[in-house]
Amino acid sequence: MSKVAIIGGTGLTSLQNLEISGREIMHTPYGEPSSTLVRGTLGNNDVLFLPRHGSGHTITPHRINYRANLWALKEAGAEMIIAINAVGGIQPEYQPGCLVIPDQIIDYTWGRNNTFFEEGDNPVVHVDFTWPYCETLRQSLLQAASQAGVDVIKQGTYGATQGPRLETAAEINKLEADGCNTVGMTGMPEAVLARELEVCYASVGVVANTAAGRHEGEITMEEIEQHLAEGMKNVRTLLEHVIPL
Ligand code: HPA
Repeated sequence: MSKVAIIGGTGLTSLQNLEISGREIMHTPYGEPSSTLVRGTLGNNDVLFLPRHGSGHTITPHRINYRANLWALKEAGAEMIIAINAVGGIQPEYQPGCLVIPDQIIDYTWGRNNTFFEEGDNPVVHVDFTWPYCETLRQSLLQAASQAGVDVIKQGTYGATQGPRLETAAEINKLEADGCNTVGMTGMPEAVLARELEVCYASVGVVANTAAGRHEGEITMEEIEQHLAEGMKNVRTLLEHVIPL
């Protein structure tokens, strides 16, 4: 059984250092996940890999079937999920190319299916989400980074926006005033759905660009892709060194 799952984001639709042993087509009560699940070995771990935006990177953040993705991974045996998320950096220390292991989230998304607890006769459940990421997995990621010699920022607040457009300068000012350090479009409801399924979940943010209004000129997809390509090399190295605690 593969206990560790990796959800790849923009810039990580495949893992070159994954030794693939199989693929699984999953169907869930919530519909189809973004792609078939890829099973394989990475470093010392048997892992499952799922590209969040689909294998051709065609599913926009607000259209991703987060419930199907999380359900499929749990069904396939995942006990911990490492989510890779492209983000914009709000403060100067969150430089393009750098990696962040966030410890908090503010959710600005809307209209997404953000719970498994809404149908049927089951009693309402309000999950605790004080600390939205699994601290044990966060510590494994920090240890892996240190072992691999990869620099990471050890904490931060992730602001989850709706997308698919980037933000206005005023929106980023508001996010900064709220306490956000990075901004991305896919961190929620993924994190809370993992919590509802009692799967340990943590994120590695890869800063793709300086956020709107902190950036000289327009933010271009070329720039985002270039910084993600640099950052993802470090993500792959880090992932090879993860030892689940
Ligand atoms: N904003 C939101 N999501 C993002 C950004 C950004 O600046 N960069 C990469 N994902």
